[in-house]
Amino acid sequence: MSSPGVFANLTAQRACWHPVAFASEITDRPAHADLLGEPLVVWRGADGTPRAMSDLCVHRGTALSLGWVKGDELVCAYHGWRYGADGRCTAIPQKEDPAAVPAKARVAAYRAQERYGLIWVALDEPRWPLPEVPELEDGEWIIVPAGPYRWRCDAARQVENFTDFGHFPWVHPGLLGDPERPVVPPYQVETDGHVLRYQIVRPEAPNSDDFPVFANEQAGPPERRSRYELHLPYTIVLRLGWGGQRGMVYFFASQPVAADQCVGYVVIGRNYNTDQPDRVIQEFEDTIFGQDQVVVESQRPERVPFDLAAELHLKFDAVAVAYRKTMRDLGLAASDAIGITAK
Ligand code: FES
Ligand code: CO
Repeated sequence: MSSPGVFANLTAQRACWHPVAFASEITDRPAHADLLGEPLVVWRGADGTPRAMSDLCVHRGTALSLGWVKGDELVCAYHGWRYGADGRCTAIPQKEDPAAVPAKARVAAYRAQERYGLIWVALDEPRWPLPEVPELEDGEWIIVPAGPYRWRCDAARQVENFTDFGHFPWVHPGLLGDPERPVVPPYQVETDGHVLRYQIVRPEAPNSDDFPVFANEQAGPPERRSRYELHLPYTIVLRLGWGGQRGMVYFFASQPVAADQCVGYVVIGRNYNTDQPDRVIQEFEDTIFGQDQVVVESQRPERVPFDLAAELHLKFDAVAVAYRKTMRDLGLAASDAIGITAK
């Protein structure tokens, strides 16, 4: 299924942290996840820390996620072979001496960590650490997860959609944009290693839920400043502010399940409107992501073409241009891409 052109590079992406689940979903019961075409089993060890291994028993290829955790080991559901957190098989019950295990009996174990309410996995030594988002960790902000949003598209398409200003009035009229105000204010993208930074300032939409908070404080809608950090390949930190202490952090990360599948996770932090129920925020996000999904899943090619000659870019597409260029410059997109498909 690999198409001609320049697409996401599998080898380089293996050396990045990616989310594989909301942390709340991962317990001491093994769970299955797919990352870059690799089947994973994810669970919590005896000390509560997340673990990730290949979801394929070396004996007969059974999914280890069907098994269970005993002590700090994973037991295969088929013949009861046991695996340690490092992926080494530690016991084969069928043998006279179960502890006499051939050295070959091991599966790949991967780095895993829990942060920002998500479980992250890197298949190879990660090139960059996770972004720093103190607002989500200081304990003062209200945190609400939204999603996961499973889309039949490349993670890069999902990320580009999140940063695409031009579509707001068209796809989300009355929610994120106003068709009477389609012009994207000018902005500049600064590239800092694997991080793109840009900000956009616009008057607060009069229909915004947030507007009543400010209504008594100033005449007319306040200006809303949106500061973006796009951490390549697929994580975005968006900070919204109105010039005072009140703020909102919008954390988004897309899990590259396979070349044509992704899962988006949203974690929203805020220090105002603290009594708004989580459900209201989650339903709003479900609506927005649902509106986007229809459009993005229709895009062809399915995967973002990182070759800048492909597609037509205008000035307000500066984020997508910088994203595609930097993905290439850093080797995250390359022409030797492997056509990874979902199982
Ligand atoms: Fe896992 Fe046999 S398939 S123990
Ligand atoms: Co949208």
